[in-house]
Amino acid sequence: ELAKGVNGLDKVVLRGARGSSAEVYLYGGHVTSWKNDHGEELLFVSSKAIFKPPKAIRGGIPICFPQFGSHGTLEQHGFARNKLWSIDTDPPPFPTNSSNKAFVDLILKPSEEDAKIWPHSYEFRLRVALGPGGDLMLTSRIRNTNSDGKAFSYTFAYHTYFSVSDISEVRVEGLETLDYLDNLQEQERFTEQGDAITFESEVDKIYLSTPSKIAIIDHEKKRTFVLRKDGLPDAVVWNPWDKKAKAMADFGDDEYKHMLCIEAAAVEKPITLKPGEEWKGRLELSAVPSSYCSGQ
Ligand code: BG6
Repeated sequence: ELAKGVNGLDKVVLRGARGSSAEVYLYGGHVTSWKNDHGEELLFVSSKAIFKPPKAIRGGIPICFPQFGSHGTLEQHGFARNKLWSIDTDPPPFPTNSSNKAFVDLILKPSEEDAKIWPHSYEFRLRVALGPGGDLMLTSRIRNTNSDGKAFSYTFAYHTYFSVSDISEVRVEGLETLDYLDNLQEQERFTEQGDAITFESEVDKIYLSTPSKIAIIDHEKKRTFVLRKDGLPDAVVWNPWDKKAKAMADFGDDEYKHMLCIEAAAVEKPITLKPGEEWKGRLELSAVPSSYCSGQ
């Protein structure tokens, strides 16, 4: 259903069979809420988030396209997260989920203004779906519709802000022993050690060619997020910690304790599409009580 969100911005509310829900703003094609069957919010959105163009909403799942971070000449994280998307009334057939009614299809196409910043024609289709078990699924399909025969390249991320009870009690599994680029050390390349990742200071790393499954274990909440991705080889891990938190106008000073960004991404190797070619990048999130995961 279409509803009015903060500042009268349009949002789509999805409702799952057993009480789960999700909200997607047309502004940014931005998921701002994902709740489980018990109505508990699973994503972090800052209490200071500004729901007003051209500022991207601080929290939820911003979409970084066609540039991740400062890896290029465009504005930080590209422009998709601060454009007004439309409901896609004519989505292409999707292989799965056709019987599942809790989904919405959005589309972003460049305006004439946009084409001055990034001189390419494309169709970016985003499907956001709630699975029967309350899982949240995002599928992006990007097609090169250039008529001048030119290929284009981009980097991409689902910049997901997970809600956690206490960052100091959180562990991330699935990134051990991998190579990463450290944004806090001029993108130098390092190799992660064998242990699960824990947090005690600012972190801003791009893990390269990761497994498709990453787990975020929140001991205090006794909850595990499982992230599955497809078409997105890298994973960004970000927490601003106290100093950077204070420097961000749209982020509370202490909120870094209650969030963690794990971002399914394609950064190291940009994706190149020739005219007529389409790319697909999928993210699937589930949240399960930790006791169910023991022994796995
Ligand atoms: C992360 C980047 O993905 O996003 C960080 O790795 C950046 O370097 C962070 O600070 C937040 O970016 P922004 O533009 O939303 O403030």
